[in-house]
Amino acid sequence: KTVGLLFGGCSAEHDVSRMSAANILRALDPAKYDIVPIGIARNGRWRLGNSAAPGSKSLEIPQDAPEVALLPGHDGELAVLGEEPRRLRLDVAVPVLHGPNGEDGTVQGLLELANLAYVGSGVMGSAACMDKDVAKRLLRDGGLPVVPFLSMTRRTRMSYEAATGMLGTSDLFVKPANMGSSVGVSPARSAATFEAACDLAFRHDAKILVERSVSGAREIECSILEGASGELRASPLGEIAPAKSHGFYSYAAKYEDAAGADLLIPADLDPALADRIRELALEAFRVLGCEGLARVDFFVDPADPDGIYVNEINTLPGFTAISMYPKLWEAAGLSQRELMDVLIGHALA
Ligand code: DAL
Ligand code: MG
Repeated sequence: KTVGLLFGGCSAEHDVSRMSAANILRALDPAKYDIVPIGIARNGRWRLGNSAAPGSKSLEIPQDAPEVALLPGHDGELAVLGEEPRRLRLDVAVPVLHGPNGEDGTVQGLLELANLAYVGSGVMGSAACMDKDVAKRLLRDGGLPVVPFLSMTRRTRMSYEAATGMLGTSDLFVKPANMGSSVGVSPARSAATFEAACDLAFRHDAKILVERSVSGAREIECSILEGASGELRASPLGEIAPAKSHGFYSYAAKYEDAAGADLLIPADLDPALADRIRELALEAFRVLGCEGLARVDFFVDPADPDGIYVNEINTLPGFTAISMYPKLWEAAGLSQRELMDVLIGHALA
């Protein structure tokens, strides 16, 4: 099978994607797949190939490589542009793209129009999960527990006093609605930090979220995987323990500081609580119409036995060397190579 590996992309998580894609490239069995790397530059142009040295931590988009274009209605045909135009046929696409313009249904729409099978959620599931405001409303409607939140645009921007009044606490988190890897996220515990946090979040999105912070919350994550005939599996749980110096699991704690966070696998939880979280993860996956894979992230309040909250669902979770999604499957006995076979098998089913 010919696999189009889409990486890069025009979102703030471009660099994370190139790291995820390097791991996926290594995980794909070369005896089974012909791999066509397609790098999406920060300006949105698609180019053929990967110019990183074998074994690199991160894929590179070759600057001088020909541009490529997927052709609508042509069953996975990829037109290679340039002086010697030609066409390739892809059997399946693996979008290793994080954040807007890749994880949000836009690329999935293009793949649909091209009649090309692809790994992961479709247009609706991708879009619903990318927008944290929409995702939380759907989760809440589906009876799943979410932390109290409000969303605002520049036009409906409210003061710290108003937000704390509505959310019932002075301890808040501010996030862009559509973003990942904690880009643009900050805690806010005063009017001044709240205004700065909102300014920062609005630099990334026209809609932002203000959430009640669950103080001392444990961050627990669960990976979901869908088999070829639609059966869902929930992985063992992992816990993120950000280093005290980072305060929360920020972008820097994730990707810029090797000691930024510890990943504890399996998370040390009461077995009944762990089962409950796995059930909620499966339910969240179904409620949001996800397909193939997702990582469901939770907050667990150690002071409250009922304090389990779905934080968010990542439809194209990180696959970097430090990422939880593949590590949780490894803990369950599924190697990255086998994991990619399941994901591609489901996409082609
Ligand atoms: N958005 C990052 C890649 C994650 O969820 O892992
Ligand atoms: Mg995310």
